[in-house]
Amino acid sequence: MSTDNTSLKLEKKFQAAEDFLPLLGTDFVELYVGNAKQAAYYYQQAWGFQPVAYSGLETGRKDSVSYVLQQDKIRLVLTSPLQPEGPINAHINKHGDGVKVVALWVDDARKSYEETTSRGAKSYVEPYVMEDDNGSVVISGIHTYGETVHLFVERKNYNGPFLPGYRAYAPNFKAVPTGLKFIDHMVGNVGWNEMNKWCEFYAKVMGFAQLVSFDDKDISTDYTALMSKVMSNGNGRIKFPINEPAEGKKKSQIEEYIDFYNGAGVQHIALATDNIIATVTALRDRGVEFLYVPEAYYDTVLDRVGEIDEDLAPLKELGVLIDRDDEGYLLQIFTKPVLDRPTMFFEIIQRKGAQSFGKGNFKALFEAIEREQDLRGTLS
Ligand code: FE2
Repeated sequence: MSTDNTSLKLEKKFQAAEDFLPLLGTDFVELYVGNAKQAAYYYQQAWGFQPVAYSGLETGRKDSVSYVLQQDKIRLVLTSPLQPEGPINAHINKHGDGVKVVALWVDDARKSYEETTSRGAKSYVEPYVMEDDNGSVVISGIHTYGETVHLFVERKNYNGPFLPGYRAYAPNFKAVPTGLKFIDHMVGNVGWNEMNKWCEFYAKVMGFAQLVSFDDKDISTDYTALMSKVMSNGNGRIKFPINEPAEGKKKSQIEEYIDFYNGAGVQHIALATDNIIATVTALRDRGVEFLYVPEAYYDTVLDRVGEIDEDLAPLKELGVLIDRDDEGYLLQIFTKPVLDRPTMFFEIIQRKGAQSFGKGNFKALFEAIEREQDLRGTLS
């Protein structure tokens, strides 16, 4: 599968039909968290995101508070409840901190809603208009796996810092960027035998096509296994791999996630950089922890992937993984879970032509995750 000519395949898949859900990109990712103020500081100090907007008591919002942070094209929203009851509390109580909203930037939020709900999507919120002095935004939304939702955000008539109801927020403390550019892909973990159901959802309801699939023979170690399919929209800007657990001798990382998240949800967000060595060095220096890769991986990796532009020594020192397909190669690394529960983590990825997802690294990666699971006592 790593030899797929992905972009050509995508073109072929989409030339037949008109894209009924044109997506301009990821608008924002919203996490429901226990303490948004402190989470904002973590993403600011450790990851280099700069706060750009705020909404809370000072802006007239009574029940919750949100911080919006941005680095290049990546926008995170961190939201916490201010009251003991309500859906945000319920979400945090059940899932721990985690992604609630994957918001997609569209030209027409009303049409996006109609096209998806008429194809079977469950409505989360009907189209509505928000306005302030900076213009208006139209938002609508549908449910996806677990309690995760997609919002469609139409902001062509708006020039404020984020959304109506938010005010610009520029604290004195300035984040130093770490070179993160945009969201490359976002992965969902779903329950046993649910992968095909959710891939069909993205195909039928949102007009996505399947890029690649990996079965348990591709993604298994001596102990654990999973299956994965990658769904992409027409222009390739939005890629959603979907994982489900597969039978192995021990409990897979997907089962561990489902157990602690209490259901399906976003497993990892892959962030793109133009210089993975500089980015990962900066992140590590600021306290972000990455999965450990045994040094033996680097004894043979160049035999597998051929020549690369980078020196191997810093990649080895940082634990960056390398893979190649017929369009080029990629460099990638995975953090440990960034929340208290062993649920969500980040991937840092630098693509040098390759459009695939690092299949050649799966075994080394999952063995690294198993070592962490073993420390948590969740492997068996
Ligand atoms: Fe990934």
